[in-house]
Amino acid sequence: MNRAPIDIVEKASDILRALRRGVLVTSKANGRANSMVVEWGTLGFNWGKPVFVCYVRESRFTRELLDANAEFTVNLPVGPFDRRIIAVCGSRSGRDMDKAAELGLTLVDGEKVSVPAVAQLPLTLECRVIYRQKENNVLLPPEIRARFYPSIERSHDTDKDDHIIYFGEIVAAYLLG
Ligand SMILES: Cc1cc2nc3c(=O)[nH]c(=O)nc-3n(C[C@H](O)[C@H](O)[C@H](O)COP(=O)(O)O)c2cc1C
Repeated sequence: MNRAPIDIVEKASDILRALRRGVLVTSKANGRANSMVVEWGTLGFNWGKPVFVCYVRESRFTRELLDANAEFTVNLPVGPFDRRIIAVCGSRSGRDMDKAAELGLTLVDGEKVSVPAVAQLPLTLECRVIYRQKENNVLLPPEIRARFYPSIERSHDTDKDDHIIYFGEIVAAYLLG
């Protein structure tokens, strides 16, 4: 499959617009590739490097894979695509199923990372984790804590546990086609 390089600054508004509807973060370790949906993400520059920062709750299967292999790809749609991809990858866990097989996703080997990209959402960022930080939600304003981290509900069975913030250096950016 062809990879047409892109300039992330030129594509920044497309990337940010796509983020608001959810994009795929794919990770892979121990022979298992898995995609999840994220909409909390930041595109920018840190330590002189282009980065994509994603926020992954501790309970996610993705978190286990990222801790075992600190690389991920980000895939964003260009034009119409099958919304089932977002529905399944944003609600089902890779612990319980092979989402790529279920959805018939076309996984394409990464160019510079050991994690595949997803051809159905062709705008691809390949990232290597250069820094990670568990958030300290005590430092957040009370209304944000109450909404996103109500301690009474904090458990691995909910969507209310803390995030790990992964800073991925963007080592390749391209359109698959
Ligand atoms: C639109 C949308 C945005 C989401 N954004 C995030 C996010 O930024 N961080 C996160 O941890 N989970 C987010 N989720 C939830 C995960 O995608 C979901 O829990 C997924 O099943 C986790 O998969 P995994 O267990 O295979 O890693 C989002 C879900 C949807 C539908």
